[in-house]
Amino acid sequence: MAGGKGTVLVTGGTGYIGSFTTLVLLEDGYDVIVVDNLANSSVVAIDRIERICKKRPLFYEVDITDEQALDEVFAKHPEINSVIHFAALKAVGESGEIPLEYYRVNVGGSISLLRCMERHNVTNVVFSSSATVYGDATRFPNMIPIPEHCPLGPTNTYGQTKRMIEQVITDQIEAQRRKLKAAGKPYEQWNAALLRYFNPCGAHPSGIMGEDPQGVPYNLLPLLGKVATGEREKLQVYGDDYPSRDGTAIRDYIHVLDLADGHLAALNYLREHKPGVRAWNLGSGRGSTVFEMIKAFSKVVGRDLPYEVVGRRHGDVLDLTANPALANEELQWKTRRTLEDACADLWRWVKNNPKGYRQEPPAELLAA
Ligand code: NAD
Ligand code: WQD
Repeated sequence: MAGGKGTVLVTGGTGYIGSFTTLVLLEDGYDVIVVDNLANSSVVAIDRIERICKKRPLFYEVDITDEQALDEVFAKHPEINSVIHFAALKAVGESGEIPLEYYRVNVGGSISLLRCMERHNVTNVVFSSSATVYGDATRFPNMIPIPEHCPLGPTNTYGQTKRMIEQVITDQIEAQRRKLKAAGKPYEQWNAALLRYFNPCGAHPSGIMGEDPQGVPYNLLPLLGKVATGEREKLQVYGDDYPSRDGTAIRDYIHVLDLADGHLAALNYLREHKPGVRAWNLGSGRGSTVFEMIKAFSKVVGRDLPYEVVGRRHGDVLDLTANPALANEELQWKTRRTLEDACADLWRWVKNNPKGYRQEPPAELLAA
């Protein structure tokens, strides 16, 4: 491949955030190789990326826990110089039911990936962490909005895997640096970004690319989408007895394209500044309640979406709002799209693609 800015291996690159990041990387002049086992995604995402940016990433159907298969991709592509690592299982509830599978895939898969990177001397990694590593930050005074130095305390198995992977990556990068330094060799090339995302949402403004999970969604915006299309009768609001402005819980919703831009900014920062291991929050810094989200989405749909208030969901916390100052300053990155943009883009995607990637979008969207 003719690498303009270099070649990035994207694990989980047919998934929701991975596909948008692949798009943004290609648009910025990187070449991209995607590996994904399609456990929660469709290979059609690759076609849609190509339709939008007229460039096609290479795709390998590989399970990251199959270290030999993963190693073969690295061996075949010595041009890979960085990795963005999305591949993971991510359902919070399921993680409590089958914890061993979550540790095997998320932690074990990350270890396999880091071993391949070491063998092939690929020294930059950007990792999909999550705001869930903070757990309930309201247990500390002055930690909302949440800064990166907030003590970690995940409250579920999924969050524990993210925290562990952060540690595994940190130990590995530091060990590689120490080893090379002791040998008098350039060590600064080993770098990692731990990106703690808040609540990603939205879709591509073209209406032909969006989230298409294989199972039943449990996140607020995809569920609101299903209420809007009539696939669900109403939204269940998990609690209106929180100490917030309207009684519902607060989250920091971030457009998936802003999130993708954050990955590009982090990758460029690693390559330019060689900081070692660094964690950044990727959020807007603005919290919205569940009721505010229902209102915002209802507005773009053009009618009030039905809901009923039920009890709190086990494990939910009052407020997860980012303090994104570090990413704003160091990465020169901040969110550009509004909540209204995210709702409008999501609605365009849902309305035109009720079966996700299992059906072609309307011809007028493809022609645009
Ligand atoms: P997603 O499920 O759409 O994407 C994950 C991708 O990884 C999928 O395409 C899936 O098929 C693939 N995958 C899973 N197991 C694999 C394996 N063993 N080998 C190869 N590929 C495998 O999820 P997403 O929302 O795009 O999330 C991407 C990353 O961001 C994940 O690591 C997730 O934990 C993290 N994250 C997501 C959110 C969110 O709310 N969506 C928030 C914070 C962090
Ligand atoms: C948002 C708000 C719910 C559904 C999860 C993971 C987190 C991260 C993002 C990966 C909450 C309320 C929701 C519904 C509702 N993923 N809600 N009715 O829980 O903030 O974060 O996804 O890293 O780790 O935990 O997101 O979209 O599920 O919920 O009232 O039917 O909407 O209680 O306040 P959450 P969410």
